Amino acid sequence: METITLEPARSRDARRIAELSRDLVEQGLGWSWRPERVAEHLARRDTLGVVARSAARVICGFGLMRYTDDEAHLLLLAVAPEARRLGLGRRLLAWLEVCAREADLDRIVLEVRAENQGARAFYLAEGFEARRLLRGYYARPHRREDAVRMVKRLRRSPA
Ligand SMILES: CC(C)(COP(=O)(O)OP(=O)(O)OC[C@H]1O[C@@H](n2cnc3c(N)ncnc32)[C@H](O)[C@@H]1OP(=O)(O)O)[C@@H](O)C(=O)NCCC(=O)NCCS
Repeated sequence: METITLEPARSRDARRIAELSRDLVEQGLGWSWRPERVAEHLARRDTLGVVARSAARVICGFGLMRYTDDEAHLLLLAVAPEARRLGLGRRLLAWLEVCAREADLDRIVLEVRAENQGARAFYLAEGFEARRLLRGYYARPHRREDAVRMVKRLRRSPA
């Protein structure tokens, strides 16, 4: 199997990340994660990006997470179709999760399109729980779509 390497995302990766977001995450909703927005997030001190590169150095997956005082928010995560079901989504999430655990954050939260059954199954498999249905969360001029908020607790509750 081809070796895929995970690395911190750099500003020069913003365009490829944005294009993958448009095609794999935001399809049908309009393109909100444009290169400038991705680059602005990568430059923030509270946000980390990770990219997965093939042996040919092509980005085939990525994730973007923002860290606050008590929680981390997964903003984007995607794997190219040809690289799916090989554990890459899990590796990307784990890479971002390490920082949340080292900062002793309580949880990771995310919103996922309600109709995205594949991603919802992935997050359930990775320890997230569905918490709330957010009606009309994605409100675009020609389309409204529901989201599901999912949460993964990182700290154990005191016994
Ligand atoms: C969701 C996504 C990132 C998962 O990436 P991936 O690399 O295929 O996931 P992994 O191989 O690490 O999967 C880990 C486990 O999650 C579960 N899983 C992943 N994809 C699944 C699917 N489509 N259906 C059911 N379970 C799934 C499985 O339990 C899997 O383990 P297994 O393959 O041993 O059965 C990928 O499908 C994707 O990019 N989807 C489009 C973009 C997207 O929806 N992003 C999320 C937006 S919030």
